[in-house]
Order: sequence, then C-alpha cells, then structure tokens
Amino acid sequence: MNRAPDLGERLLYQEALSLTERAYAPYSGFAVGAVVVGPSGRSHHGVNVENASYPAGLCAERAALAALVAFGERRLRYVAVAASGGRDCMPCGLCLQALSEFGDPEVIAQIGGDVRVTTLRQLLSAPFVAPQPAAAATAGADDGDASADAPADDRSPS
Ligand code: THU
Repeated sequence: MNRAPDLGERLLYQEALSLTERAYAPYSGFAVGAVVVGPSGRSHHGVNVENASYPAGLCAERAALAALVAFGERRLRYVAVAASGGRDCMPCGLCLQALSEFGDPEVIAQIGGDVRVTTLRQLLSAPFVAPQPAAAATAGADDGDASADAPADDRSPS
C-alpha cells in the first residue's frame, strides 16, 4: 500500500523535480531527478545521465546513491524521485536492488498522477542478497576490517 506524503516528504519530491532540469536525457527525453537522505538528514542529488551507447546510461536514483556513499553515509531514510512534465516515475527494478543494499527507505514518487509514499521493501520484497562474501571466508588474512563494509542485515524477505 502507499500513503500521502507529509510536508517534508512533499518538499523532497519538489527538490527531486527541480533537479530534472539538470538531467542529461537527449535520447529518451525522460528527465529524472532523485534525492536520497541518510542519517545526517542531508540531501544527496542525482539525475539520469544517458549515453550514445544506451546501456551506459545511469538512472537518477543510482547517481544520488553514489553521492550519498561518497559523502560517507551508508543508510537510506528517504528516496524521492521525479520526472519532468508531470509524468509518473517509480524507481526501476535495477535501482530498487541497488537501493536495497542500504536499508528500507521511504520512497516518494508520483503514481497515477499523485505523489505517494511507499517503502522500498514493499516495492522489492525479496531483493537479491549476496552469499557469504569471499572476504569473510578469509577474515584475518589481511588487516582490513571486513565488518566496516558489512551490508545492511535487514534484507530478508518479509
Ligand atoms: N530512469 C531513471 O533515471 N530512473 C528511473 O527510475 C526510471 C528510468 C531514466 C533512465 C533513462 O535515462 C530514462 O529514465 C528513460 O528510461
């Protein structure tokens, strides 16, 4: 199910919408902006960046996710995504999987012409979870702190 956004969530959606002006989408003409928010409360921005080699294009959500991680955060509280021209835009399956690595954020997006809020886990109830990483099997073999890179552990199917 989904619900109506509160004021803060509505503002995040507007922030994502304003970002669409910076999207690089000459091939699809579908400009997307995304804002992700982690524990700090700071907004991290992304837009879609297309390429003449179509599969090299990047979605706005994953661009924003990279900005959050580069800033030093690893948990998601909110993901707002908007397309230009009043069009609906839900995160694609690839982005849902990428986002799921970092928790179960509220997802704010336009559905059926209305801005609504749902959770990532509702949109992707059973994300792929990696088998035991090879690094864990060789823990102690180097000085690295494997736990520092441990993924979120709340990704089991509900
Ligand atoms: N796109 C996004 O940036 N996010 C989504 O959630 C869906 C699709 C982009 C990819 C491509 O540049 C354009 O929208 C059309 O698919």
